[in-house]
Amino acid sequence: MTNIDYQKHYYPGSRDQLVAILADTLSDFRYQHVLRVEAKALELAQNFAVADLEKVSVAALVHDYAKERSDADFKAVIKAKHLDRNLMQWGNYVWHGLVGAEMIHDELAITDEDILNAVRYHTTGAAYMTIYDKLIFMADYIEDGRDFPGVDDCRTTTFADLDAGVAWQLKHTLGYLLAKQTPIHPQTVLTYNAFVANNK
Ligand SMILES: [Fe+2]
Ligand SMILES: [Fe+2]
Repeated sequence: MTNIDYQKHYYPGSRDQLVAILADTLSDFRYQHVLRVEAKALELAQNFAVADLEKVSVAALVHDYAKERSDADFKAVIKAKHLDRNLMQWGNYVWHGLVGAEMIHDELAITDEDILNAVRYHTTGAAYMTIYDKLIFMADYIEDGRDFPGVDDCRTTTFADLDAGVAWQLKHTLGYLLAKQTPIHPQTVLTYNAFVANNK
């Protein structure tokens, strides 16, 4: 199932070629994670009868493409592309999605906005999420290598109701960030408001 034959040209090459680039670009730890996210995203996509599995596959495979890039790389792209200057105060956690999407566009020649948005919002979420945003957001969180208290409950919840899964993740992530007194990106708060606070 995982080995989807790419025919729609979201990526200008085969899945094998894309996977080979990721194997070269990423540490083995992250590469294995990316493959598990793809498997989980495809499982979820089939569970919710999403037709375009190729789009899901590409988005999942590239979601952490920029995760291991240097801070200097991200800052250079923020400047060169005149992205929101407020991005400068954040770090890898936010950059590898929001800025990583620009790198994926430029370096992998992926231009499909559904795919780029799924990458942009895979850590913070967004108040309005497409099915592709939600699939990648959740697959990243519950892929088979994840092991945190409640992960099985989150998996069951997500396969029963994708929005409930998004809410589950948001509640736990926000609680974790608050406990650590870590800065919380406004986009995460907007997502929380949309999926948790407004949905009780
Ligand atoms: Fe990520
Ligand atoms: Fe990830």
